Amino acid sequence: MVSEARIRQGLDNVLGGTDFDVGKRISGKVRDSYLLSGGRRALVTTDRVSAFDRILGTIPFKGQVLNQIASFWFDATRDIVPNHVISTPDPNVMVVSECEQLPLEFIVRGYITGVTSTSAWINYAKGARNICGNILPDGLRKDQKLDRPILTPTTKHEVHDRNISREEAISEGLITPELFDEAADVCFRMFEAGTREAAKRGLILVDTKYELGMLNGRLVVSDEIHTPDSSRYWYADTYEELFANGEPQRKLDKEYVREWLAARGFRGEGEPPALTDDVRIEAARRYITAYELITGKDFEPAEGEIAPRVEAALKAL
Ligand SMILES: Nc1ncnc2c1ncn2[C@@H]1O[C@H](COP(=O)(O)OP(=O)(O)OP(=O)(O)O)[C@@H](O)[C@H]1O
Ligand SMILES: [Mg+2]
Repeated sequence: MVSEARIRQGLDNVLGGTDFDVGKRISGKVRDSYLLSGGRRALVTTDRVSAFDRILGTIPFKGQVLNQIASFWFDATRDIVPNHVISTPDPNVMVVSECEQLPLEFIVRGYITGVTSTSAWINYAKGARNICGNILPDGLRKDQKLDRPILTPTTKHEVHDRNISREEAISEGLITPELFDEAADVCFRMFEAGTREAAKRGLILVDTKYELGMLNGRLVVSDEIHTPDSSRYWYADTYEELFANGEPQRKLDKEYVREWLAARGFRGEGEPPALTDDVRIEAARRYITAYELITGKDFEPAEGEIAPRVEAALKAL
């Protein structure tokens, strides 16, 4: 594990915003994309942290951790489903094939959980038994394992994500039945592979979000997969006992910053409290721990000034 002193050194060497002269830039919440020649897109994973749909600051090494975890999973699942990766020329950069993204995000859930108003658990607790077309039995408890994973799509490209069923997505003309079913199959196969690999490392892949796109008429997995930003992970060894006692699970995901903010009364409205150095260090430690547990490898912090390093990598493409 990287020492606290090394993480502290990283506090002033983070990648916040980028504006490199290497192609058209599209800024997301966490990643900056650069459109390159030859149908390529450079996905630069910054150190920005978002919660409640807002950017809240930076966490040292977060971009490297996320990019390298995504890269690990794309490698580990490449035989199961084709993906968009071309190369990883820098710890914070992935060059991918530009895809035509489907207008849905595909969330696969192995367990029923969540805390926000759109989450499966909160809806279920309020009485909903039909979650995006999946009929759930009565009597489930928070964090319970589902008989089999379910798919709960949301719309993309809308101001607020909206839960949607297969039938609604088809009748709204967002996707054809054939493409939806092929996408669903791909997502379940990825989730199964992720669940199996995670279990080898003592982790439960609880739920995760996939983005799929079309590339030369073929369906491919794009964006990021199985990262702590797109997925929930719990520690497997304490799952049963905590679940039996109705206690919160031990988590390995981006919940830490969200909970710290929520404890200070911030839930997305108004000015967010500034993240303290201690919180940024603790969040970094958790992201690095996630990297090491998920990949089974030691985390090696990239050396050098981060922005010039990333810029040089992009210019060499
Ligand atoms: N292969 C690809 N081709 C085209 N777009 C892609 C590809 N892979 C990822 N993307 C897009 O790149 C962006 C990554 O940035 P980021 O995840 O920070 O955005 P975001 O804030 O989540 O915004 P969005 O709501 O658009 O996803 C996303 O919009 C994602 O859909
Ligand atoms: Mg995203």
